Amino acid sequence: MTLLLAALFGYLLGSIPFGLVITRAAGGPDVRTIGSGNIGATNVLRTGRKGLAAATLLCDALKGTAAVLLAGYYAGHEAALAAGLGAFLGHLFPVWLKFKGGKGVATYIGLLIGLYWPAALIFCGLWLVVAFIGRYSSLSALIASALTPLALYLLGQPTTALLFLVLTVLLWIMHRANIARLLAGTEGKIGAKG
Ligand code: G3P
Repeated sequence: MTLLLAALFGYLLGSIPFGLVITRAAGGPDVRTIGSGNIGATNVLRTGRKGLAAATLLCDALKGTAAVLLAGYYAGHEAALAAGLGAFLGHLFPVWLKFKGGKGVATYIGLLIGLYWPAALIFCGLWLVVAFIGRYSSLSALIASALTPLALYLLGQPTTALLFLVLTVLLWIMHRANIARLLAGTEGKIGAKG
């Protein structure tokens, strides 16, 4: 019961679509109508407003961090993991947007920060290296997320590694259109206007 409540709590936090809310509040367009149509920071950046993209990245990450830290503080480590799964699912499938949400990258980082922050550094390091070379946000996230469960396992976090294995599979599924565009050579580069 506690785990279910923790997951529900995480879902509600995770389902706040910050990219959409922040961009609209700043007088920008509905991000679902530009670029990739995603509500994440990469697509908010396609509005040309870097500050809004940074705020989206921060808020989408911190909602994940808050979910696991609060659940962990009040109900223990297993509840933190349940809240993390809930927050990720909330971001991907928010009830407020007819279950059509984001692709999970920022929230994935936020969850790592809350559950085992050294792995968040590894993820961000990998993301930056791949982004520096390829200039594709999606490719960076795909590669960094593929290696994160392994890094967690090698760092002695087997349960958290298992959770992130599930999150990585979900993240890859949400990026299926990006993967198709990467293979076709039509994926937009970081910062290119939508
Ligand atoms: O955070 C999502 C990113 O990996 C890809 O975003 O807008 O290019 O589909 P986008």
